[in-house]
Amino acid sequence: MASFLRSFGFSCLLVVLILAIAEKSNASGYTRPIFRSGAWQLAHATFYGDESASETMGGACGYGNLRINGYGTDTAALSSTLFNDGYACGTCYQIKCHDSPHCYTYVSFTTVTATNLCPPNWSQDSNNGGWCNPPRAHFDMSKPAFMKIADWKAGIIPVIYRSSDVYFLEGTVNRFIIFEIYPLVVTCVLSLFA
Ligand SMILES: *[C@@H]1O[C@H](CO)[C@@H](O)[C@H](O)[C@H]1NC(C)=O
Repeated sequence: MASFLRSFGFSCLLVVLILAIAEKSNASGYTRPIFRSGAWQLAHATFYGDESASETMGGACGYGNLRINGYGTDTAALSSTLFNDGYACGTCYQIKCHDSPHCYTYVSFTTVTATNLCPPNWSQDSNNGGWCNPPRAHFDMSKPAFMKIADWKAGIIPVIYRSSDVYFLEGTVNRFIIFEIYPLVVTCVLSLFA
């Protein structure tokens, strides 16, 4: 009887603990991701920097040193039309080279995280160098990311892109911690399965 009471008490404690953990992960919103992809849309892409992606530092989104902070080098600066006053920061995009002889045919798309703004330059024509001028939808990708989908000698390529909306349900403590430390990378990697 004593051992029954003890194990009953222990079970109650477990239930309380589990409820507390569930409550915490629900409240934080970091839970199991569910994906819904938007429609593919047309844009263009160029690249900046070199293969080391050492220029993938800082940026208008305020992520600091992207390598140290875990955001990696598969990043892009967005034209202001896509940047949307910063609301697009951290968005994960699937980008597919589209309808160009420079496209690599063996890869369907690559995934980048938006970390910066590509500002307009009105001293350049929008169709000849001023690629980020509104209303153009443009990705200025890190060179390593660009080189996954096309020959960099192309300079500029037409692309189609879509962003993944990610929803979180039913979390675990592990995922809570992982998403807290690497929110963009984890989201980007998981979006490959969208
Ligand atoms: C804008 O374009 C002009 C002409 O090509 C160039 O000299 C200048 O450096 C550009 N400005 C910026 C901020 O990139």
